[in-house]
Amino acid sequence: MLQLKMLVLFFMVVSSVFRCSATADQRDFTDAFYYGVLPDSFTWGVSTAAYQIEGAWNEDGKSEHIWDRFCHEGGHVDRNHTGDVACDSYHKWRDDITILKELGVKHYRFSLSWSRIVPDPTTGVVNQAGVDFYLNLITAVKQAGIEPLVTLFHWDLPQILEDNGSWGNETIIQQYKHYADVAFSHFGHLVKYWLTFNEPWVVTWQGYGIGDYAPGIKQPATLPYLYAHNIIKCHAQAWHLYDTTYRARFNGMVSITLNTDFFAPKNSSKPEDVEAAERAAQFSVGWFAHPIYVDGDYPQVMKDYVQRNSNTIDGSSRLPKFTVSEKLFIKGTFDYFGLNHYSTSLCEPADAAYQASVPKGYLGDMEVKLTRDPKWRKAASSYLYYVPWGMRGILNFIRTHYNNTPVIVTENGVTDHNGTLHDSFRIDYLRSYMNELIKAVLIDKCNVIGYTVWSIMDNFEWARGYTEKFGLYYVDFDNPQRPRVAKQSAMFYKGVIADRGFPDPGIIG
Ligand code: NOJ
Repeated sequence: MLQLKMLVLFFMVVSSVFRCSATADQRDFTDAFYYGVLPDSFTWGVSTAAYQIEGAWNEDGKSEHIWDRFCHEGGHVDRNHTGDVACDSYHKWRDDITILKELGVKHYRFSLSWSRIVPDPTTGVVNQAGVDFYLNLITAVKQAGIEPLVTLFHWDLPQILEDNGSWGNETIIQQYKHYADVAFSHFGHLVKYWLTFNEPWVVTWQGYGIGDYAPGIKQPATLPYLYAHNIIKCHAQAWHLYDTTYRARFNGMVSITLNTDFFAPKNSSKPEDVEAAERAAQFSVGWFAHPIYVDGDYPQVMKDYVQRNSNTIDGSSRLPKFTVSEKLFIKGTFDYFGLNHYSTSLCEPADAAYQASVPKGYLGDMEVKLTRDPKWRKAASSYLYYVPWGMRGILNFIRTHYNNTPVIVTENGVTDHNGTLHDSFRIDYLRSYMNELIKAVLIDKCNVIGYTVWSIMDNFEWARGYTEKFGLYYVDFDNPQRPRVAKQSAMFYKGVIADRGFPDPGIIG
């Protein structure tokens, strides 16, 4: 009898674990706190990007890029803020190393500025001062015992290339490959993790679709698709270049970072909402991930929906097509999956009123009505609602759709407006999101190998200027010295890193 009871108990435990790990529905993911630690090999880090921290916009041979132009034009950025000085990291990068060491991070993600390294990509001449700056930085990061995670392109396109036809001019593919070559050849011996592009969705949609980001172009029906097409080709060129020319020597990992919400059905018992959530995800992360991680081509649902909404005279789709050899070239160009994740959207099929309210093109093509739950807590950034279970949801989406590729979360974080040092709201956000990541790894067996907070310090938040603050460290932008001051969240994160997560109080000690 006792044996039978034990057997029943055993099956109950096994089936509950199975239910938890097999579930695809975020509503089964509770927000209850879960104690657990990640392996020693898991890498914990912080992120920045060149234009958001460096300043020195016209020093030592750097050329103008589209964000310099966009800010200087005026009228695009809150309070007409610019990144001319930002955190002045071009001069104060040693201060950045000091706080990286203080936090105890294992990796530091930052980006190189193309305009510093190859100021005029149409000639390809390399600017030695730009190379030296990054070589000093990367060397010091390594000497601090921290792995650099280097993004080649974080939105600061040299203005000369924008004027030359932007991402629509195919010559950019060889110019980007040349820039990647310069970076790999000068820094490859020091860099283990590379990213070709940061958030191509934002580059194409916000830069050329709705135009709230540089260079401020509004062509939502055509340019995002056309430009994304060449960005994917640029990415594939850089990956192959590394693979054939540098991998044997340096043994690094090259990938791309994609931003995505978790897309959840508004009502998970309605099949049409479940389908809408899948479609939204395919239009968002799948747009780039499907070609790279699956089969070299766009998701079928995206091809179908863009085609049926294209309304072109000759019946062609506004979504370009890859040739057979391009597909073969693009498929498999990854060594890991870079993910930027902040929030969640609810999905249902779009009705006529919603379709009429969105710009015709990419958003309308998707035919999904995206909303947020009014009960979710809001951060200072308009897109940022606290939905911790979305972290677990999106990691499971990657596990199931992209063959459980190793993931590094390359950004996650939260904003306020004043940069208070008493940022318990940030501790709350980071603690709950990291906890969901730990559940995804330990319970669901998602292959997550790293996590990165955006950002180590307050910096230039694009069209929001300095009005939205993501930092673990406070920066006073009125003080010419730009001192970096630890917020409470910095000390909290330092503790999480030291503990490798959240040790069970019943087990430790
Ligand atoms: C995405 C971008 O990569 C980064 O530059 C930006 O500051 C953060 N998310 C926060 O919006």
